[in-house]
Amino acid sequence: MSEKVGEMGKDLRVVNWLSQRVKFLGLLVVPGVLIPIPQYPLYSASLAEYGLGQVGYYLDEDNQWALDEKELTRAIEASKTGPNACKVRALVVINPGNPTGQVLTRPNIETIIKFCHKHRLVLFADEVYQDNVYAEGSQFFSFKKVMMEMGAPYSKEVEVASFMSVSKGYMGECGLRGGWMELVNFDPQVQANLYKAISAMLCPTVLGQTTVDLVAKPPKEGDPSYELWLKEKTAVLASLNKRAKMIADTFNTMKGFRCNIVQGAMYAFPRFDMPPKAIEAAKAAGKAPDVFYAFKLLEETGICVVAGSGFGQRPGTYHFRTTILPQPALLQEMLDIFKGFHEKFTKEYA
Ligand SMILES: Cc1ncc(COP(=O)(O)O)c(C=O)c1O
Repeated sequence: MSEKVGEMGKDLRVVNWLSQRVKFLGLLVVPGVLIPIPQYPLYSASLAEYGLGQVGYYLDEDNQWALDEKELTRAIEASKTGPNACKVRALVVINPGNPTGQVLTRPNIETIIKFCHKHRLVLFADEVYQDNVYAEGSQFFSFKKVMMEMGAPYSKEVEVASFMSVSKGYMGECGLRGGWMELVNFDPQVQANLYKAISAMLCPTVLGQTTVDLVAKPPKEGDPSYELWLKEKTAVLASLNKRAKMIADTFNTMKGFRCNIVQGAMYAFPRFDMPPKAIEAAKAAGKAPDVFYAFKLLEETGICVVAGSGFGQRPGTYHFRTTILPQPALLQEMLDIFKGFHEKFTKEYA
């Protein structure tokens, strides 16, 4: 078995090697995919694995991490030239966002659908955090629903693949592996081939499959377990809501920090200033400045965050991602320790 996997890995590497060479000789324009920056690194990793072009578009941090059509157009234009030139075929949108925690507005979603229609892009709607919406005035709209309500030509022509996972939401258990994908407006032959490819994979565990069933078909009013299900679901989401506020409020009291409201998902992605002396120290240590900060934090406090460079960020800006998952008392303790660390760090490198 492991020998077979090894052979397959070798085959994949040969395909990638060949596609890189063919690209180098200018014989092939590689298909490319627009992905957000900051992004969930699964996307850059998958594109690298399949030898596809990665075309980043920046989310607008000053506008609650919204998507800007001008920025999408800039990214497409930029992808046409240079050593990594590719032909953009698809757009990935993560809503609610990881690591950025934004929930897209309905007008923003309509703009994205029109953009995909205009440029004939397949839309990958990563909607795995659809149950995790906290901020007042924020609401989750699925791309499919908005597209259907926009009517023709969008409802009939834009190809959408929407993703959902049971490891988020109110189940929130990464040990329960399961999820689903819905395809809309795909060519039946493409769909048939995709089903064939997916059917060749092994299935998730029974527990994962059971959870998929439970999340896809939750109890209805009048069912014996409805009241308890609603009580537990409401309690989990209310607690996450409290933690989302707690985390952004605390970071915003810290000198040199700016943190957008955590409207949804399970993360905060604050921006922080790095003193010039700390940037020099990072250089001397051979680390990116935000990685240097994250390591110092880990070594001195035991708090683990992921540096912004792991997700992508505008050059010269520094971020990290942290989650809202620790229970409230533990999260408060973590934030107090974090605050103390940051004050000390700032003084040390003043
Ligand atoms: C945006 C996003 N998409 C997809 C996934 C993958 O979900 P799963 O837990 O089902 O592997 C994650 C997991 O963190 C995620 O954050």
